[in-house]
Amino acid sequence: MTKGWMKSDWRAKPRIQMPDYPDAAALAAAEAQLAKYPPLVFAGEARRLKKQLAEAAEGRAFLLQGGDCAESFAEFSADNIRDTFRVMLQMAVVLTYGAKVPVIKVGRMAGQFAKPRSAPTEVVNGVELPSYKGDIINGFDATEAARRPDPQRMLQAYTQAAASLNLLRAFSTGGFADINRVHSWTLGFAEHDKAERYRELSNRISDALDFMKAAGITSETAPSLAAVDFYTSHEALLLEYEEALCRIDSITGQPVAGSGHMIWIGDRTRQPDGAHVEFCRGVLNPIGLKCGPSTTAEDLKVLMAKLNPANEPGRLTLIARFGAGKVGEHLPRLIRTVQEEGAKVLWSCDPMHGNTIKSSTGYKTRPFDSVLREVREFFQIHKAEGTVPGGVHFEMTGKDVTECTGGLRAVTDEDLSDRYHTACDPRLNASQSLELAFLVAEELSAQREAARRVAL
Ligand code: TRP
Ligand code: MN
Repeated sequence: MTKGWMKSDWRAKPRIQMPDYPDAAALAAAEAQLAKYPPLVFAGEARRLKKQLAEAAEGRAFLLQGGDCAESFAEFSADNIRDTFRVMLQMAVVLTYGAKVPVIKVGRMAGQFAKPRSAPTEVVNGVELPSYKGDIINGFDATEAARRPDPQRMLQAYTQAAASLNLLRAFSTGGFADINRVHSWTLGFAEHDKAERYRELSNRISDALDFMKAAGITSETAPSLAAVDFYTSHEALLLEYEEALCRIDSITGQPVAGSGHMIWIGDRTRQPDGAHVEFCRGVLNPIGLKCGPSTTAEDLKVLMAKLNPANEPGRLTLIARFGAGKVGEHLPRLIRTVQEEGAKVLWSCDPMHGNTIKSSTGYKTRPFDSVLREVREFFQIHKAEGTVPGGVHFEMTGKDVTECTGGLRAVTDEDLSDRYHTACDPRLNASQSLELAFLVAEELSAQREAARRVAL
């Protein structure tokens, strides 16, 4: 694919948003250690995900990507992993029913540790400190010592990612993901008195499952009902970590990022000649590219050519993150750029990052209604342009946190202080996530109905 590319080539490129480690010997030792460890994911899995994403780009599948803004060492527990995984599965069932196509399940999990920041330093209680850049780089505590980048943290992140992935793999195939079981949890949600709107859809799913059972299609006769494919993803920000986990696929001979199935490039690190693009262009994994209001047509052209020179379907996912009310200004021009180039891409919608505001009570939050509005705008524009809205990307958790406002169990500005636990950006809680899945499912099924009417 990329002849002559070497996994260390990014080192010769402008390096931004990455730490300057004070102890070069300690860094080299951690990298050497990591390079000896087994990869977390295998090339065949990344290739399979790429095939599935190619289907989503054509409207024959739908991508659901979600998880923490930033995973943290402190919040690491089996319960947290299980709860996020559970809500994602519930969302996937609802979306599968709405879209009538397979839903590709990709967690922002088992590697989402490094964060780009708007400024290299921040002032906490009157003291200027280096910014917190995620647990894989430095500590959250507001002290000079905690904020010093420590390469040993890469090893701890690897260990946590390996344990997380082990649990996710077990949950995926060990009975936990059985579609009947997953849907029974959703019935509980739909019983809420304000969930009337969702009860009908939820009952229709129950009917479909009962019908299949009567016809002899059960988890015993159809094992695919009892298991899922679940993939991991994260922003490939800390390139020392990515390089150390880069391996060669024994089947194709190509380099593969062994840190997660899919990796993405953030809106702040997508410089066409920068280090992050240089690393990502050489590995065979599916690559995500965040596109914000500042993404120009020119940049997008260069990036598509660099990241997907062979125009391989499923390779590139463009993750639009403009903010509610701004999608109409930016998405059509980028869709046209893609069309002019004849590029094959999957369009996904991140309705989180363009909708962060400061609440009246001082918390960084995201109103549920803005999130929903951006998703709807994304669908409307794709409809108008005749292109495929192929996925969604959420910052969410399975816990009952109070970080985003709104939703049917309305979280108010005053409630935010109750359970505001995020290590970085505000996440949708379990109920808000599932509610959003119902609303996206409505969009998807309306779109399907419309397509069917045209075909008749
Ligand atoms: N294996 C199928 C799929 O992943 C059906 C399925 C089983 C499923 N368990 C699920 C779908 C849980 C969504 C959620 O699509
Ligand atoms: Mn975030």
